Amino acid sequence: MPEIPRDTIERVKAATDIVEVVSEHVQLRQQGRNWLGLCPFHNENTPSFNVNPELQIYHCFGCGVGGDIFKFLQEIDKVSFFEALTLLAGRAGISLPRSAGAAAGDERNDRLFGANELAAKYFQYMLRRPEGAAALRYLHRRGVTDETAEAFRLGYAPGGWTSFLDMATKPRRGFRAEELEQAGLALPGRSGRGHYDRFRDRVVFPITNLSGRTIGFGARALRDDDEPKYLNSPETPIYHKSGVLYGMAAARESIRRRRTALVVEGYMDVVGLAQHGTTHVVASSGTSLTPGHARLLGRYAERVVLLFDGDAAGGTAAERGVEVLLGTELDTRIATLPAGQDPDSFVRREGGAGALEELVESAPPALDVYLDRMAAAVDLTSVAGRVRAVDRLVPLFSQCREEVRRDLMLRRVAQRFEVDEQALRRDVAAAMSRPRRARPEEPEAQAPRPRTAGGAPKPATGSELERQFVGLLLQHPELIGRSREHLASELFADADVRRLVDYLTGHPPEDGHVDLTALLNQVDEDLRRLVSTCAMESFDPGHVEELWSDHMHRLRRADLTRRIEDATRQLRRASEAGAAGEVERLQADHRRLVVERTRLEGQGSAAPS
Ligand code: UTP
Ligand code: MN
Repeated sequence: MPEIPRDTIERVKAATDIVEVVSEHVQLRQQGRNWLGLCPFHNENTPSFNVNPELQIYHCFGCGVGGDIFKFLQEIDKVSFFEALTLLAGRAGISLPRSAGAAAGDERNDRLFGANELAAKYFQYMLRRPEGAAALRYLHRRGVTDETAEAFRLGYAPGGWTSFLDMATKPRRGFRAEELEQAGLALPGRSGRGHYDRFRDRVVFPITNLSGRTIGFGARALRDDDEPKYLNSPETPIYHKSGVLYGMAAARESIRRRRTALVVEGYMDVVGLAQHGTTHVVASSGTSLTPGHARLLGRYAERVVLLFDGDAAGGTAAERGVEVLLGTELDTRIATLPAGQDPDSFVRREGGAGALEELVESAPPALDVYLDRMAAAVDLTSVAGRVRAVDRLVPLFSQCREEVRRDLMLRRVAQRFEVDEQALRRDVAAAMSRPRRARPEEPEAQAPRPRTAGGAPKPATGSELERQFVGLLLQHPELIGRSREHLASELFADADVRRLVDYLTGHPPEDGHVDLTALLNQVDEDLRRLVSTCAMESFDPGHVEELWSDHMHRLRRADLTRRIEDATRQLRRASEAGAAGEVERLQADHRRLVVERTRLEGQGSAAPS
């Protein structure tokens, strides 16, 4: 972690509402003192993602991830700690010391973000220069106003081979050509020597992550006969296409307000619709919809309307989109545009968003449209045709984990294709019991996740009792000092819990609270999971004292029991080996431990065990 004063970090954190920030990415609802939602880090239909506003910690009981608000932004936006801090400081109006930026500047992703941001600024600037005149004219011709161009930060990547490269590698900018290549902005020369600009003589659309930072570009040729029409940034460490939708950062608020997201195919569609006041629009930039996209949509929307081009390619894209979306809880619909039109040309022709809104409002359920298309493609009068259709549908339905919805879909299909509902149901059940195939476009399915053999998420370590106790200490730090006097960390069976308790007692809380950010930044993944799990324990605030002494009591008893078991084992071994002296010593030990436990039990604890 770069050298940033601890109290600055604390101030930023104190000024930040974790529920508010997380809510921009996850729909949360309050449950008790915590907030609950669908985990953005793994696929799930039942919420197990918890946020504790008091400790400012999140934890998912499904996949085990957890941390504080900085960690959350680091994970969800793939930024460094420093960037997460900068972002939150900016929101809170707190300024960071200048030197802090330099200290963090050598982190790799920061360089990639920096290069993309520099490119966005440069392209924007070039659009206003004489070199960009043709590009600006092109945008005007397509009805894009200066205001809209500004809002989407549209730009112009100049012709020539190294315009951007030359600028960005000047000593004052300080980027190396290799870094620009990594950032997706430059390509290595054929001969293996030198680099050249990826985007040349094109209108560029900056693509941002949810925090609004530029992570890549889509770039359109100025002339329709130039091939390819669009060039896109490649996958980079900061740009993962399967999780990014073009325009989401800007559209997010209106999607949330309207609970509906319009999904279009093109960059120009997003820009064109926004120009006409329809802002709850995003596009999958140059890829088909992935489960990652669906999950992203599900964080803000309840209803998704696919608004794909009225041509064959649009139809196919819609079909693939439906296949992904039917497996989710999203109410998915398909609006069909007149042949040969795309959303952008449609609103322009209609001279406003009214006709489009109508189309969207009356959009039929995606499943119906999907089945219609399928019915048109296969011969439903033949048994073979129907079997083929059903074969394609079964895997689709088996993805849908929501029973009621699956049921509804099954009934529909059975009617539509005149197949036996029970048989269909059996097929789907069989498909569901087979292990799920990993989808190539779903990085989460490939990424190694800590899993136990059975495939269940790895639980946090530590016994329930030990976890609860640590949770108690985290939430009531005034107990830490007292606990230190009364108990040694050896009392804990779990090594991670032991490490954590050592840390807590070794770093007494200042002004009554534990510095969780410092803690989380110092510990490894396992310990971080443990911290966030413990932080989700909830206690009745009226009975903290009783809980504490009850836990102390139970921990001691558990510890004694473990030691007695140990002694018993050693005793057995010693007597088998015939070591008489040893046996005698161990017997004494054993007796002492048993007496101690009996005494402890006699002292008792008010609480039942
Ligand atoms: P479209 O051709 O419909 O894009 O392709 P558009 O944005 O509506 O383009 P124009 O300017 O109105 O003609 C839809 C999307 O497919 C990707 C782009 O993301 C584009 O926005 N695409 C298309 C490519 O990546 N490469 C291509 O060559 C064409
Ligand atoms: Mn188009």
